[in-house]
Amino acid sequence: METEELARRVCFIRETHYGGFWDFTANLEHGDTAYTTLPLKAHTDNTYFTDPSGLQMFHLIEFDGKGGTSLLVDGFYVARQLRTKSPTAYETLSTITIPAHSAGDPNTLIQPTPNGYPILNHDPLLNNSLYQIRYNNDDRSTMNHLESEQVLEFYDALRKWNNLLKDKHNEYWFQLKPGRVVIFDNWRVLHGRDKFSGHRRLIGCYLNWDDYQSRLKISHLSQEEILESL
Ligand SMILES: [Fe+2]
Repeated sequence: METEELARRVCFIRETHYGGFWDFTANLEHGDTAYTTLPLKAHTDNTYFTDPSGLQMFHLIEFDGKGGTSLLVDGFYVARQLRTKSPTAYETLSTITIPAHSAGDPNTLIQPTPNGYPILNHDPLLNNSLYQIRYNNDDRSTMNHLESEQVLEFYDALRKWNNLLKDKHNEYWFQLKPGRVVIFDNWRVLHGRDKFSGHRRLIGCYLNWDDYQSRLKISHLSQEEILESL
């Protein structure tokens, strides 16, 4: 299938408990909201993995119904707005860790190691720059590791983050169409969709961050530049 070939041109397809290359409808084949007709708020996938997938690819190949508009939000852009408007909330979401899990399938209990990362993750060896957003409210576990004042601080920061995510200026809504493949950076861009009715068939996959980054670097660096960068 051409879409799968396209994915493999980027790098290896990541196999998970949802399979390798997906072909799915709202049939609840897996205990996950993606397999329903429910609206999905802006989120990143795989907060329950130690290393969330780097890229996600979607291709809508059949749709006979209403709704289901797709949403993308640039998480780095929203994070910058939060840092400007509320440095305290930014600091809170950069430090308070959030346990996560995937346990919708009877044979699955996936939790990251350590079992909790902040929403905003920074690289201490690269000027403390923001490198990854991890945010999916539906995969969040109980937060009983926090002191009571931290809980208030966390929810206050979360509300500010969520208000910015829902700001119309930060949302990009579009309709997926057969023939139009969407690939986005799951470490930076949040995605979602509106509720829908009818038959909606999507294909797609996850691609690993490291493999995609490798392809990206090799595609524009010479051998000398690669050696110099190490
Ligand atoms: Fe998702």
